[in-house]
Amino acid sequence: MSQKKIVTIERHIIEEERSHPGASGDFSGLLRDLTLAFKVIWREVSKAGLVNILGFAGKENVHGEQVKKLDEFADETIYRAMDHGGHLCVMASEENENVLHIPEHYPTGRYVLLYDPLDGSSNIDANVTIGTIFSIFRRVTPSGKGSMEDCLQPGYKQVAAGYVIYGSSTMLVYTTGEGVHGFTLDPSIGEFLLSHENIRIPKRGKIYSVNEGNYRWWFDGMKKYVKYLQEEDKTTGRPYSGRYIGSLVGDIHRTMLYGGIFMYPGDTRNPEGKLRLMYEGNPMAFLVEQAGGRASNGHQRILDVQPKLLHQRTPLFIGSEEDVKIAEEFIQKKRELQQSAAS
Ligand code: AHG
Ligand code: MN
Ligand code: MN
Repeated sequence: MSQKKIVTIERHIIEEERSHPGASGDFSGLLRDLTLAFKVIWREVSKAGLVNILGFAGKENVHGEQVKKLDEFADETIYRAMDHGGHLCVMASEENENVLHIPEHYPTGRYVLLYDPLDGSSNIDANVTIGTIFSIFRRVTPSGKGSMEDCLQPGYKQVAAGYVIYGSSTMLVYTTGEGVHGFTLDPSIGEFLLSHENIRIPKRGKIYSVNEGNYRWWFDGMKKYVKYLQEEDKTTGRPYSGRYIGSLVGDIHRTMLYGGIFMYPGDTRNPEGKLRLMYEGNPMAFLVEQAGGRASNGHQRILDVQPKLLHQRTPLFIGSEEDVKIAEEFIQKKRELQQSAAS
């Protein structure tokens, strides 16, 4: 009886590299270091609820160690896992105002890592799904210490992106531009094993995901689009169901597998919305496009936005291609509600 092929993420990366003659193997080393960080974060996340019971009271635990908030812990874990491998010239984290340099005594490399160490942190105490998001570019400066210029690249220049979802099982979903692949962590052997090869997002879904608590501040086009989704029209699967976790990684992962649309729009209070272009918009847009979907700010493809600031925010409409296109028509006022009977 032939045993099912066990494909660890390392094997998958090496096999992908083999299909790129001239690949240096540098990249597989980078992703290997990154997956170690994810396993360390998973270990802490999976006992987060226990931490309080185990006496990690206040800022110091029974061992006299400083207790860190989970997103500080995740942030430091990723930095420390990535600072010495010689793969990166600079990093940037959602949790740090400025770029993060490689320590002088370590070699620098040709890649750039931007990351959201813990996404959905408001959900941690309620044991709701949270995640980590990462985005990788090739450096643009010639050598040595990287800079802000290496970080502020448009999303279409990403060479890899992915997220880890710490949910009922822990999964790593990533792309290097050759499709999107999901790996589930097998805690018994501590390996991420290929479980979802070549994830494809449905062309249209029946779920919309947005924080409707912000309705009163939405611009008109957004209000009309959600009203459209709530109208009854069996030929287009409407009314859609509403699903909102409040963790981008959880909402995007569901959208990738089931289809539909996730939205965090700009509104009259925050025209640029809440989500960060570099740590959330770009990596998720690269993944969703690689799975056959679409991602825009309502007017422009996310991956074409030229960033000006490291922590700049962006409105985000992302998911099934047809759903995002219809949302854009409403946002750009090219479509009104009475036309909805058409499709
Ligand atoms: P983070 O925890 O990294 O700050 O991200 C939180 C983000 C994102 O995960 C989620 O989609 C969004 O915040 C939810 O925002 P609201 O609570 O305003 O809906
Ligand atoms: Mn986030
Ligand atoms: Mn975060």
